[in-house]
Amino acid sequence: MIPDELAREMESHPAVGPVFKRLLLELERADDARSLERVRIDYLGRKGAINALLQDIRNLPAEERREVGRLLNLLKSRLEQELEIRLERIRERELEESLRLQKLDVTLPGRHIPYGTRHLISTIIEQIEDIFLGLGYRVVEGPEVELDYYNFEALNTPEWHPSKSLQDTFYVEVPGGNYRDVLLRTHTSPVQVRVMESTPPPLYVIAPGKAYRHDVPDATHSPIFHQVEGLVVDEDISLGDLKGTLENFARRMFGEDRRVRFRPHFFPFTEPSAEVDVSCNMCGGDGCRVCKWTGWLEILGAGMVDPNVFSYVGYDPERWSGFAFGMGVERIALLKYGVPDIRYFYDNDLRLLRQF
Ligand code: DAH
Repeated sequence: MIPDELAREMESHPAVGPVFKRLLLELERADDARSLERVRIDYLGRKGAINALLQDIRNLPAEERREVGRLLNLLKSRLEQELEIRLERIRERELEESLRLQKLDVTLPGRHIPYGTRHLISTIIEQIEDIFLGLGYRVVEGPEVELDYYNFEALNTPEWHPSKSLQDTFYVEVPGGNYRDVLLRTHTSPVQVRVMESTPPPLYVIAPGKAYRHDVPDATHSPIFHQVEGLVVDEDISLGDLKGTLENFARRMFGEDRRVRFRPHFFPFTEPSAEVDVSCNMCGGDGCRVCKWTGWLEILGAGMVDPNVFSYVGYDPERWSGFAFGMGVERIALLKYGVPDIRYFYDNDLRLLRQF
């Protein structure tokens, strides 16, 4: 810090020596930024040791004053430089230390984040939602673990109905619960009952979601699948409204020149009931592999809400009428894109998923 000769001079000087020796010791011990700062304040500060000595100069004999003043001012500027150098060295050491601890290799290339695509089933559900939102419908949801009451009873489904058998329905065992009271919903129709129970008419809703059935998987069956339920309740709703609504839906979903036909059917919760076909979008109705040479694709079940269902939820069947429909999302996806097997949707095979 100070050339030898000058250092010796300071060390042996009666007034400067003791302070100088103490300073050297403390500098030696200061090994981080905080202790260096301490030294700076103690020696160079306004009330520090060097200023104190400068104050004392006037008590010295006149011939010594010059010499002591020179030494102290030299010491001051040298110490300032020295502190600066040491602080810089300490900062460098601390940076190196923290880099070493972080083991950060800034030359490594960034990590690639793989991004996926939307699953075709989600895309179809969104398309269906868009069509009905455009008609002023609301999207609602209900639970997948459901009560027998909502899945069957309030939908006018009698005790002996075949869909209630163990072969079709997954029942859920509940500790302390009654046998077969709780199940995995076999369709999205129970959401109809739940919205009607909690909302007064008029109603225009769709309810997308998962449903479960005790089916052996094959090209057209999966034990878990998706449906979109629709329900309209208002004054003077007719079968014509249902037909117009579904025709509009079929055209938006499958193409502008699609035709729709109703075949009489039975569902416990609608009367009359129908299965609804759309003319085949693959062959335009001429007959092909996808429509099994009939020209028609069955896409959903529908009907006019049975007055018995209205009485379960406390709607007045004299004043309100309505229609309902339910469609299988996988089936619509299969038909729209000619996918040959429903199981593809659940295999998570990227070669299939990436195509949509
Ligand atoms: N829930 C029926 C099923 O899963 C489909 C269905 C038919 C829904 C007629 C309806 C309807 O809302 O009116 O097969």
